[in-house]
Amino acid sequence: MTLNVLMISPGYPAEMPLFTRGLARVGARVIGLGDQPKEALPPMAREHLAHHLQVRNLWDEAAVVREVQKLTRQVRIDRVECLWEPGMILAARLREAIGAPGMNVEQTVPFRDKEVMKQRLDAAGIRTPRHYRASTEDQVRDAAERVGYPLIVKPIAGAGSADTHRCASRAELERALGMVRHVSEVSVEEFIEGEEFTFDTICAEGELYFENVCWYRPRPLVQRQNEWISPQTVGVRNLDQPDLEGGRRMGREVLRALGFRTGFTHMEWYRKPDGEVVFGEIGGRPPGARTVDVMNYCTDNDTYLGWAEAVCRGRVERRFERKWNVVCTFKRAQGEGRIQRIVGLEPLLAQFGPFVVEVDLTPVGAPRRSWKLSIVGDGYVVVRHPELGPALEMGDRIAREVRLYAG
Ligand SMILES: Nc1ncnc2c1ncn2[C@@H]1O[C@H](COP(=O)(O)OP(=O)(O)OP(=O)(O)O)[C@@H](O)[C@H]1O
Ligand SMILES: [Mg+2]
Repeated sequence: MTLNVLMISPGYPAEMPLFTRGLARVGARVIGLGDQPKEALPPMAREHLAHHLQVRNLWDEAAVVREVQKLTRQVRIDRVECLWEPGMILAARLREAIGAPGMNVEQTVPFRDKEVMKQRLDAAGIRTPRHYRASTEDQVRDAAERVGYPLIVKPIAGAGSADTHRCASRAELERALGMVRHVSEVSVEEFIEGEEFTFDTICAEGELYFENVCWYRPRPLVQRQNEWISPQTVGVRNLDQPDLEGGRRMGREVLRALGFRTGFTHMEWYRKPDGEVVFGEIGGRPPGARTVDVMNYCTDNDTYLGWAEAVCRGRVERRFERKWNVVCTFKRAQGEGRIQRIVGLEPLLAQFGPFVVEVDLTPVGAPRRSWKLSIVGDGYVVVRHPELGPALEMGDRIAREVRLYAG
């Protein structure tokens, strides 16, 4: 029997066409749902859709539910999928409305609301940063007294480190309050000093079939505050090293505590200098910023398809083997305007040869892109090596020696 899968936002963000294609390749009939016409979708998404339901406004939940219910009078819908953070609750609501299997709203909320998330995990005995929810300035100040400094103020439903502020003192807290006034609800959290990692999985029916750890260099908050930095996402080959053991164990406990069953997950965690492991956040979706490709380069395999197998077949059939350490280095142009020249790249490509697996930089002549809006910024260079040391050395040379000049 062919499965009919409703895929919310099949064209955006950048990875969605690849997931859409994955569903089609494992034999599903994919029905797109979005507020764009089919013609406006990226070709890869368009080509793998059997049908596309265009709605006027994707965020008008009640209206979208009605439209989808109307559609189910003509076609059976077996699954509702959304891998884009803002659409996760909509997907859950649609599942409830049409009786499709998968996570309902109540199960999805802990993946969206960072306070509910941490309360659930606290109850399960998982180490989270001390945290409070606050919706007025006085509540923030109260929470700050209880949490102590340094602390972090960030939106309850945040993404991309936007409106996230580290405060080392009351004065800094007052400054941050001025900057988050447009955010209706924030988390006030103990600031955790340390390194930051991911723990990413593909699960099916509660079984873990694929896991991945990436190391962020430097920590995302520092990446975001310093334009000169070339941020890196490092896909680590050897997951069995002692340094990662605590994070992986925590990752499994988190999935169990939240009752996750089928799909992609993306968790972030901290390792303090004393070795203590602290939970950061989790999404019931894959990471963005090319991290799924990093996983594919690590394994010479296809996690887009692995996810599609999980969704459509209830198990992941392909076997993943970690063969490479992968370093994805993101670049940010210097100057404003259009890219005038790219220096330092050619000699490194010649020297690193086959260890360079992808180069995708803003081309000469194109406008430079915002490094604040997206971690991808002016593009990236991906290198890989069986050993971690040489992979990092190549990545660091790309960070230091490749420069894009705009003007
Ligand atoms: N309690 C904390 N202690 C230390 N650093 C923190 C803390 N909370 C957030 N940060 C920093 O801010 C970054 C963004 O926070 P977080 O990951 O919670 O939010 P986000 O905006 O949803 O993230 P993403 O960039 O993954 O979408 C973290 O990666 C980390 O560098
Ligand atoms: Mg994060």
